[in-house]
Amino acid sequence: MHTHVRAGQTLRIAPPVNAFALEADAASAGAVLIAGGIGITPIASMAAALTANASRYALHYTGRSISQLAFVDELRALAGEHLHLYGDDEASEANRFDLARLFATLTPGQPLYVCGPQGLIDAVIALASERGWPRERIRSELFATAAPQTGDAAFEVELRQSSMTLSVAPTQTILDAMLDAGLDPLYDCKRGECGVCQVGVIEGEVDHRDYCLSEAEKCSGKVMHICVSRARAARLIIDA
Ligand code: FES
Repeated sequence: MHTHVRAGQTLRIAPPVNAFALEADAASAGAVLIAGGIGITPIASMAAALTANASRYALHYTGRSISQLAFVDELRALAGEHLHLYGDDEASEANRFDLARLFATLTPGQPLYVCGPQGLIDAVIALASERGWPRERIRSELFATAAPQTGDAAFEVELRQSSMTLSVAPTQTILDAMLDAGLDPLYDCKRGECGVCQVGVIEGEVDHRDYCLSEAEKCSGKVMHICVSRARAARLIIDA
């Protein structure tokens, strides 16, 4: 906007999209809401909707210390007994967030919503799949853009439709390399959640880092999300 839009220009806009909404059965199935730090923002809206419906749910909210958590007074008034607060620095073990302890109280398949840093989301997904939860019951929103990981290496990506080959630096995504090259790929969240940037994979092995493909789709190796996922080897050919 700052770089390209000029006064007097007409813009075409679309309505807002919610990629992290409560599903229809959340009100009846005992939804579990987990928020890490400022990831409370969408989770608080979900709690408000569930409270308005007089639904059974639990809100687990964690951060460095309970005294530093945002909106605690408002959440106490909103969620009452549904609210559970935790802090890493709390003296009592009961006040420190323990995912394994929480999962021991849940039934596999309860709708679970988690928003916060990547470590929290990855831990929830790993524990849920270890305990046989269907992947589609875990919905998440990352409260940051996906970060490069230790050991990420440069690779080449051939864009078959565009007849171009680009170098992707260790700290760069395929999407960013395409944007830097002046291309106009479709994308939205840049966190591997919305699925908008999905492309077909023609050749090469993918390091999948998205939160939207199923395990079967990842194993098929036929599609990937270029905003987060990378090549496992030196070269990848995609349908873009
Ligand atoms: S832009 Fe949303 S998954 Fe890539």
